[in-house]
Amino acid sequence: MSASAEAPPDFDADALLATASVARDQAYAPYSGFRVGCALLTADGRVFAGANVENAAYGSTICAERVAMPAAVVAGVREFVALAVVGDGDGPCTPCGACRQVLFEFAPDLVVLAAGGSGAPAQYVLGRDLLPDGFGPVRLRG
Ligand code: THU
Repeated sequence: MSASAEAPPDFDADALLATASVARDQAYAPYSGFRVGCALLTADGRVFAGANVENAAYGSTICAERVAMPAAVVAGVREFVALAVVGDGDGPCTPCGACRQVLFEFAPDLVVLAAGGSGAPAQYVLGRDLLPDGFGPVRLRG
């Protein structure tokens, strides 16, 4: 699915990145030492934060994005505008493949801001830039 041709949504990117950065402080990452925080802005203006929660069985680790979006869905939200992700690395912390897929389910047009320790955040549109031709609900409906 390609991204919408509409103008990008208006939101406070700096505030969203700041919330993601605060969320990163709550990460539990004793194995990788790589903390990630995120902040997910919903269409009705709420923000759901997430951080990675690692596990001694490494494969059971949950990424920050897969903490935030399911929490929003369980709170009744299905429409999303933007996601800020802040990781411990120098460069932008772009969502992993599994997270891209999970985010795509509800928000192919999601604006994704990816930041790290230095430099300007990178900005993407999920379905256009990070998961082109992604598999989503539309594919199932044919
Ligand atoms: N991580 C995230 O939280 N989100 C991503 O999209 C990329 C990776 C976490 C998982 C793991 O705890 C750590 O970063 C190192 O891979």
